[in-house]
Amino acid sequence: MTSRSAAQPIVIRDLKTIDDLTQLKAVEKEVWGIAEEDTLPLTLAIACKAAGNIFVGAFDRDEDAKNRNKDKLVGFAFGFLGREHGQTTVHSHMLAVLDGYRHLDLGSRLKQAQRERAMAMGVHEMTWTYDPLQSRNAHFNFSKLGVVSDTYKVDFYGPETSSMLHRNGTDRLWVRWLLNSRRVRDRLAGKSTNARVEALDALKLLAPLVRFDPGGKPARADLAEALARQRVSIEIPGDILNVERTDMELAREWRDATRWAFRETLKAGFVVAEFCRSIRGQQGPGAYLLQRGTVSDLVPEA
Ligand SMILES: CC(C)(COP(=O)(O)OP(=O)(O)OC[C@H]1O[C@@H](n2cnc3c(N)ncnc32)[C@H](O)[C@@H]1OP(=O)(O)O)[C@@H](O)C(=O)NCCC(=O)NCCS
Repeated sequence: MTSRSAAQPIVIRDLKTIDDLTQLKAVEKEVWGIAEEDTLPLTLAIACKAAGNIFVGAFDRDEDAKNRNKDKLVGFAFGFLGREHGQTTVHSHMLAVLDGYRHLDLGSRLKQAQRERAMAMGVHEMTWTYDPLQSRNAHFNFSKLGVVSDTYKVDFYGPETSSMLHRNGTDRLWVRWLLNSRRVRDRLAGKSTNARVEALDALKLLAPLVRFDPGGKPARADLAEALARQRVSIEIPGDILNVERTDMELAREWRDATRWAFRETLKAGFVVAEFCRSIRGQQGPGAYLLQRGTVSDLVPEA
């Protein structure tokens, strides 16, 4: 693991040269623990970059690198142009920050840089996927960035990959980031809006469709009852990676229960609106809030 020297500012900038792009593989391998064949091929990275796609990096000029006059890549975001529901979008395929550089807001700064570049290209929406069992990513995506989602993908990358983060299947929520919406601008400015406060209050009162029971197992509630309401909550463990390390069978139970809950609710016309990372104290589970309606109801600019 790398550790950051506190005195060095980390610079967010575009990856410009082949040298910059060559550094991607090391970050991918450290962050996801993936095999060489699953990393982005250098030639593809060069072509994507040349065709106008977005690569932004977080660079640390450590002593070693300074000697070689080269910045060290410690995090990056890569997105390519897509076409979704008749609009040009940027699909952000990878976001990664090395372990020793996390919780310094670099992930947010990379997303903000990616957003600025997409908007400068005239793009209004960015999409990406993430594992809905990862509380860290759920908090990052919904609370800090303000994404919404109406699509759940079962085993998106196939049943398994070489990544150590993909041992429990590869189910994903497909999230939409409406770049210039009020919701996103407020989240990026760190504003806690009435809508979010109200949603978080609602979470405390709702009986979850999937609940973290006292033994740490997922307990399912009655589906018809839940679907009859305007709002539904789905709980997840605070640290699924730890569950995967200690009890893979339990991790799979969580996958099955949350897959069922997301698919049924989204099919019935709900959208994923919020995530709250601790609803019963620090060590407790986190919870998603889903609301009946469409993404446009939730984000009128969509
Ligand atoms: C996701 C990732 C890029 C975030 O990078 P980062 O530089 O740590 O991001 P930030 O510092 O901007 O924000 C991280 C947030 O997650 C929170 N967090 C960390 N661990 C958490 C956990 N287990 N549960 C809930 N929130 C958690 C942090 O507290 C912080 O939120 P805060 O600023 O509101 O307190 C990084 O964790 C990473 O590389 N993960 C592995 C790859 C990955 O998952 N990529 C993203 C796919 S969407």
